[in-house]
Amino acid sequence: MTAIERDIVIIGAGASGLTAATELRKAGLTVAVLEARDRVGGRLWTDDIDGAMLEIGGQWVSPDQDALKETIAELGLETFARYRTGENVYINAAGQRTRFEGGIFPVSAETEREILRLIELLDGLVAQTDPDRPWTHPRAKELDEISFGAWLENETTDQEARDNIGMFIAGAMLTKPAHAFSTLQALLMAASAGSFSNLVDADFILDERVVGGLQQVPILLAERLGGDVHLGQAVRTLRWNEDGVVAVTDDLEVHACRVIVAVPPVLYSRISFEPPLPRRQHQLHQHLSMGFVIKVHAVYETPFWREDGLSGTAFSPYELVHEAYDNTNFGDSRGTFVGFVSDEAADEVFTLTPEERKTRILTSLSHYFGEKALTPVVYYESDWGTEEWTRGAYAASFDLGGLARYGADLRTPVGPISFSCSDLAGKGYQHVDGAIRMGRDTAAAILASAELV
Ligand code: FDA
Repeated sequence: MTAIERDIVIIGAGASGLTAATELRKAGLTVAVLEARDRVGGRLWTDDIDGAMLEIGGQWVSPDQDALKETIAELGLETFARYRTGENVYINAAGQRTRFEGGIFPVSAETEREILRLIELLDGLVAQTDPDRPWTHPRAKELDEISFGAWLENETTDQEARDNIGMFIAGAMLTKPAHAFSTLQALLMAASAGSFSNLVDADFILDERVVGGLQQVPILLAERLGGDVHLGQAVRTLRWNEDGVVAVTDDLEVHACRVIVAVPPVLYSRISFEPPLPRRQHQLHQHLSMGFVIKVHAVYETPFWREDGLSGTAFSPYELVHEAYDNTNFGDSRGTFVGFVSDEAADEVFTLTPEERKTRILTSLSHYFGEKALTPVVYYESDWGTEEWTRGAYAASFDLGGLARYGADLRTPVGPISFSCSDLAGKGYQHVDGAIRMGRDTAAAILASAELV
């Protein structure tokens, strides 16, 4: 067992932990970042699969994500816009495929009015919601006790309007069924992106990508930290008292004044805290769980849909792949689709053999884009459910009532222990932007504390 001493030890080399470490080192403190995996980046992972560069984890950058944008610029990375020229595709409950332009799906005039009314209603509620403190909403408790699915049922009898509005938050964002999270949690999701209108606008929320992949952000941050990042070092035990901490891996002990636990909250219980965390944290952490989505990548010899005047953007709450986009890499002559299979639909296809699952998923893509979609040259499913050090995708959210009951203590430090992760963020919640914001804020709070200045 090697023992080292640092001012601050950081558990987790995702965007959040690496940002915190960078800020602390800039301020002159010594750090050690301990990472369980043999790579940095956590939920950011750009890899070569059968000769295709794929974004296995997070990839998109939206205009409001200024913390991420600043980091990208500071690291000298370039971005490019998602291809969106041409018509989008929508498939209704009857399986009817319609090409359309603009933001609103081609539904009946009555359903369109309902969708617009619900968006306005949700925009109003989101405007009253502080993403950093959603539990202070005047109706927080009431809105946290009703599922988003039930709220939608109370608000409208129009099934197609409900299915579409539900899809934006449930399948597309929290990746849980609309009955499994509260309306307050849905408002936080929208408030974190500025408004509900922003969240439903694919051109806003899925705006740009980083040339060469978003994992370069953590890779470059880690490069600057050099030998202070230790890979393959899962922290098993954290001993702590008011004077400091010892983070223990299988072969390393880091003695420090403070620790930042920068791992997804569902993994806190993988660490033995000695003494145990307080009652409040024990309870709070049990009310957070990961969503679940399969990110599907299909690469073709050419982006054939473009010749047909299609943008590659497609939606349907009635399809296995509920949304799909042109995800062609910058400067690539091949064409790539990315599609998503979420929550209960993902559970269902994981009961199939890999071949059956692939056929079902590609068939769904072909409903949007035609037969050519059935024969990609590279096919890959990002399955974060099997990743020991993540356990789902995209991120964690509270069960019914959890946000109003526990939210205020979500980021509260315990003695020398601070918590930092995209899943605890307000603005940028569940996104890389939130991970970076949390990393910055956690480092700033530590630097502001008297005993370290
Ligand atoms: P993250 O989980 O990345 O990092 C935590 C780190 O801690 C990991 O490296 C883990 O191995 C490590 N760890 C865990 N336990 C440990 C232990 N005991 N000891 C040591 N290390 C430990 N966001 C976005 O902005 N745009 C997007 O397009 C997408 N899309 C997307 C798709 C998919 C498929 C996923 C899975 C996620 C996204 N996201 C996204 C979300 C985004 O990727 C995510 O919010 C951030 O990368 C999370 O960064 P954190 O640093 O907070 O946690």
